[in-house]
Amino acid sequence: MKNSFRKKPLSQLLDEVNGENRLNRILGPVALTSLGVGAIIGTGIFVLIGVAAHDKAGPAVSLSFAVAGLACIFAALCYAEFASMVPVAGSAYTYAYATLGELFAWIIGWDLILEYAVASATVAHGWSHYFQDFIGIFGLGVPAAFSRAPLDFDPETGMLVLTGSLFDLPAVLITGIITVILVKGIRESSGFNTAMVIVKVAIVLLVIVLGSQYVDPANWQPFAPFGYSGLSVFGHLVLGEPGTGGAPVGVLAGAAMIFFAYIGFDSISTHAEEARNPQKDIPIGIISSLIVCTVLYIAVAAVITGMVPYNEINIDAPVSHAFSRVGLGWAHFIISLGAIAGITSVLLVMMLSQPRIFLAMARDGLLPKNIFGAIHEKFRTPWKSTILTGIFVAIMGGLLPLRLLAELVNIGTLFAFVVVCAAVLIMRRKHPEAERPFKVPFVPFVPVAGILTCLLLMFSLPAENWIRLLVWLLIGITIYFFYGRHHSELNKVH
Ligand code: ALA
Repeated sequence: MKNSFRKKPLSQLLDEVNGENRLNRILGPVALTSLGVGAIIGTGIFVLIGVAAHDKAGPAVSLSFAVAGLACIFAALCYAEFASMVPVAGSAYTYAYATLGELFAWIIGWDLILEYAVASATVAHGWSHYFQDFIGIFGLGVPAAFSRAPLDFDPETGMLVLTGSLFDLPAVLITGIITVILVKGIRESSGFNTAMVIVKVAIVLLVIVLGSQYVDPANWQPFAPFGYSGLSVFGHLVLGEPGTGGAPVGVLAGAAMIFFAYIGFDSISTHAEEARNPQKDIPIGIISSLIVCTVLYIAVAAVITGMVPYNEINIDAPVSHAFSRVGLGWAHFIISLGAIAGITSVLLVMMLSQPRIFLAMARDGLLPKNIFGAIHEKFRTPWKSTILTGIFVAIMGGLLPLRLLAELVNIGTLFAFVVVCAAVLIMRRKHPEAERPFKVPFVPFVPVAGILTCLLLMFSLPAENWIRLLVWLLIGITIYFFYGRHHSELNKVH
């Protein structure tokens, strides 16, 4: 059991950065910030804002965006300190290995699959919504049997229901295309990403500037029809009104749902090995991309809820529909197209990050090296795990409902954020001497505030997500005891 708490020495981590099987160092601060924005603005703001406003927060969803953004800023500062200190691929997984020990690192690595691979499946769903919305403008449609997942979440009963469809074909197709691009190489992916990011920021600005001219302030009243809170402890509502199925509703509950919109800034830390000057540029990338997106999100939320009464907001493609509703068909067309581009770039970054976390875990011996550690000779990409990730994402995205996936991603990511904030505190105490090119300000306030706000959001999600998270982690722990513990590279050190 003692082995399960062994830690990876900081010096060893830094030595590894210069070892064999390295990735190419080609990303500068602008490319990294753009990867961040690329990973952040997507399904959350273009799709989930609809459900959050309609069912959870009403016009106060803009406040939900502010609350979730605040939790992320605390966590982002902690990520930035770690990323500057340990600039290796692997993100929260690597930080946990150095501070909390192997078992915890494995748990976080396993948990990050929720953040990246399951999030990719959620995003592929969002892509499918806008794709179908877009071709619908031309009177085209995907055959009903292939237009959506076979299961859906019924908010009335809180149960899963059959939709009559077989699987979501557009979600599966886009996943396949992205997988091919990623196997070919990060240089191409990074250029493709930058183009997509420019398009999507332009679209978001269009939504804000044009949409603000169609805002009717009467739509902002009542501002918080579901209240300002929404907190339950394992199914017992402690603050706010009960929604359908007893799940919390209110500004906090809305924040817990649209938290998804912010996921991705930390993916920059998984590219530390591909950064030219990671110590400086990774913190810049993380913090600047998050700040840009927070400001844009609050503005978009205010505009959309000002354009459409919250209970009439479209659930599938809320942003583009708000424009056709006020008679701007051309804007519907452009926004739908921009959302497709934007969501594609999220999928690209998310699916780029997952194999890099697997790579870090395989190097440590916790996953089979011949699969997850394999780098393609010509393309220099972790090609086998990229393909495996693609298959996993296609299956989840094709078959499971958006809302269920999004909530699972949120609780898993919030858990990772809690651990990273805690790890900063532990590392400051155990290794006060370590070089920290970027330091979290106001320690311990910022990490503690990060832990508390992320826990608050975890408790504002419907309670069954805790059970799902626990089951997922138990599966992971079992795998560790049967595989990772015996194959760990740290076995060889002793
Ligand atoms: N933040 C990303 C999105 O909203 C995951 O699509």
